Amino acid sequence: MEVKLKCIMPSCSFESDIHHEVTECPKCGNLLDVIYTGQDSSSFLELFEFRKKSPKSIFDKSGVWRFRELLPFALNEKNYEELLASLDGKEGQTFPINLTEVAKYVGLESKDFYLQFEGYNPTGSFKDNGMAAAFTHAKMLKKKRVVCASTGNTSAAMAAFAANELGKMQAIIFIGSGKIAMGKLAQSLEYGAKVIQIKGDFDDAMSAVLKVGKKEGIYVMNSVNPFRLEGQKTIMYRALEGLDWKVPDWIVVPGGNLGNSSSFGKAFSELKSLGLINKVPKIAIINAEGSNTLYRLVNEEKISWNSGKPDFKKIKSFYDKMDKENRKAHTIASAIEINRPVNLIKALRVLENCGGAVEQVTDLEMLDAKAVVGKNGFGCEPASAATVAGIKKLVKKGIIKKGETIVGILTGHQLKDPVATIEYHTNKNNKYANFPVEVNNNLDEIVKAVKS
Ligand code: F0G
Repeated sequence: MEVKLKCIMPSCSFESDIHHEVTECPKCGNLLDVIYTGQDSSSFLELFEFRKKSPKSIFDKSGVWRFRELLPFALNEKNYEELLASLDGKEGQTFPINLTEVAKYVGLESKDFYLQFEGYNPTGSFKDNGMAAAFTHAKMLKKKRVVCASTGNTSAAMAAFAANELGKMQAIIFIGSGKIAMGKLAQSLEYGAKVIQIKGDFDDAMSAVLKVGKKEGIYVMNSVNPFRLEGQKTIMYRALEGLDWKVPDWIVVPGGNLGNSSSFGKAFSELKSLGLINKVPKIAIINAEGSNTLYRLVNEEKISWNSGKPDFKKIKSFYDKMDKENRKAHTIASAIEINRPVNLIKALRVLENCGGAVEQVTDLEMLDAKAVVGKNGFGCEPASAATVAGIKKLVKKGIIKKGETIVGILTGHQLKDPVATIEYHTNKNNKYANFPVEVNNNLDEIVKAVKS
């Protein structure tokens, strides 16, 4: 089996060994893929099943490394098990489940509709999947410092994985000031990361990270790093495993920096070429209306991958106009409050290869959907609820059809952003508000409130 890095543009010939840190093509400036050749997949599915039933190590338990032959970039290394990064095998213990009330809410039958709660990862978001892989690569390169820009979840996951290396790795985090949910900031501080608040938003922090990473030789953990995306592919392996490797009709995911959607598309293309599945699902990416770069580029500007020739000029003039008008992303779903998604071009490739849709939802649609998810005894943060709100909209528009099988990915945990939840439930105008009843400390009044 051979591994290399390759530029995503079919017109560019750049390829490189994986023992370097490169996050953009030095020839044309575009993104890179990790590419594998010479894999024999004939026993993969039995192997994954066996490890799940009889794990022999934390890597067999891990929901990421259990599938290591499908992200085998470290397997050619000597003593590769010492390199594999894992939070004691706890990452990726998620699988798709049916939730009756949410199915009703989106207008689907429960048996056709699954949600996968990636918020139930050790640090409370899907980012743990990607960090397991990216930290493994950082260890292969003997890196001692890692950096990311974040709206909060990437940073929490990165800080935890760095702390787990027991003093051998320092985490440095750039965040936009006032742009991060409290639960997420609390995590990064507690895990001992160096947190730098930049006066600006996520996009400012992101562009600073790329410059500082290059200048100081610090390993960049954002999703421009193709090894991060290798780990995130496993979200789809678990979805498929939960469906007995039957490919659903739709995968639905929120869109922020577009790393998740890009990795999902890569996972399906690879599985298909390995002969492990015979079709790919459609992928729906859901933007917040207040942070809708992808929605506008695809649905209004008609930008597409265009067989590897996306209209870069049109994209640039879209961004120039955005800057001129000083249009900034603004949404309660701070996780996806992003103007310039770094994986835009990869996401366009996925939409062309898999087919699908890009939808947008309002803050209130997300918050209502989030409250309905909560009523089922599960929870997610506002950005994750974009998935449920988006499915509801796509069903209503007839784009997702009744009888189709849908897996929605809920990306982050409910407790990441308790402020948004409390604000929703204490506003009696909200449809699903469940506000606390205040009474005097008087038994009659208390009993009256209990009975009401
Ligand atoms: N949902 C949550 C909870 C997120 O934290 C993010 C991204 C997304 C969805 C969007 O995923 O970027 O792969 O399209 N959070 C990043 C961060 C930006 O810094 O934590 P994407």
